[in-house]
Amino acid sequence: MSNEKKNYTPQELNSMSNDELARLGTELDGVTVAYRKERFPVDNDPASKRASRAVGTFLVLSIIGAIGFLGVYLFWPWRYKGLGADGMWLYTFYTPLLGVCGALAIGCLGLAVVTYVKKIVPEEISVQRRHDGPSDEVDRRTITALLNDSWTTSTLGRRKVLAGMLGASGILAGLAIILPMGGMIRNPWKPGVLGLQGDGTLWTSGWTLKSKNVKLYLGRDTGAIAALEKGDKDHPNAVTHASTAGIARLVRMRPEDLDAGSMETVFPLPDELVNDKDRHDPKRDVYTEHMHSIHGPRNAVMLIRLRHKDAQEVVERKGQEDFHYGDFYAYSKICTHIGCPTSLYEAQTNRILCPCHQSQFDAKMYGKPLFGPAARALPQLPIEVDEEGYLVAKGDFIEPVGPAFWERES
Ligand code: FES
Repeated sequence: MSNEKKNYTPQELNSMSNDELARLGTELDGVTVAYRKERFPVDNDPASKRASRAVGTFLVLSIIGAIGFLGVYLFWPWRYKGLGADGMWLYTFYTPLLGVCGALAIGCLGLAVVTYVKKIVPEEISVQRRHDGPSDEVDRRTITALLNDSWTTSTLGRRKVLAGMLGASGILAGLAIILPMGGMIRNPWKPGVLGLQGDGTLWTSGWTLKSKNVKLYLGRDTGAIAALEKGDKDHPNAVTHASTAGIARLVRMRPEDLDAGSMETVFPLPDELVNDKDRHDPKRDVYTEHMHSIHGPRNAVMLIRLRHKDAQEVVERKGQEDFHYGDFYAYSKICTHIGCPTSLYEAQTNRILCPCHQSQFDAKMYGKPLFGPAARALPQLPIEVDEEGYLVAKGDFIEPVGPAFWERES
């Protein structure tokens, strides 16, 4: 405990210098400065300039990193580009550049602070005893004086350029952390343009295009990728480049393409993007659009052809009696538990199994859950066959696909 007098009048306090108040503050707080040594006791010490330059270099790098991060985040092309598409390389660098710039901004700011404290701020060892209770007037005044003293001894007041850069670096690094959180406060229900991946809201998928009178085939994924093109007529054996022209990643299906007791994953294939069989054009390139359909988070549908005798036992859900075509049933592949792909179909029992947490759904009973944590049936896509004999969507899903969310009613 300090033996110092505590009851100072405002006049006595006003008459003290900042140094005296600071010293009084340490004594009143029971703080003992055991050791203190200036780093640069001699004016114009070259070591002081070197230390200052080192801190300045880290701050400049931090500012460059923070500006780079903000620039990349705001202006770099970030939308997905498929293999071989224009701008694919620029897109590929988006995430790595964010990481490098963010690390530079925050890492160099940290290094600048550590270097400043280790090389410029006076070395000091202080010891303080703990005490309880709120601070009185004297303590508040003296702590202010101590802070003033810290500012003075830090010499930042004299080093205007360093202080300015430290402030700028701190603000920009803070922005680099805060700005990406902007994505979390966007309105998730604000619809964008309806396309092959829906309109950006959870109610929609590529199949929602059907409600805009777009003819949608059930497109089977062939897994086809870019083909190597041969050289010109003078160099017929030379391989010049990879091309996706003429490749149909998604192709139309007829009922006879699927055996009884089997399952195929299909995606929405708009009429204008068909490039197979009698409508194949070797120069046309629809690959990117087909990949957009495959990547649509709510697009994957399981087309199941039940064995005919099993189809006789099917229990239809009310309001969905005409959603199937003969023995063909189409269910969303997105598990209603937490959205894994329900990839397994067991023909013997007609059960659909989700490998994530073992939910099982009955293909003979409108995709109703029979086991596991999923509580809702798999949404069923209404299907039919068009005049040419291809399987097409008859309408959109009548309920949201995938896991539950706050706004859905059932
Ligand atoms: S995501 Fe399918 S059971 Fe959990």
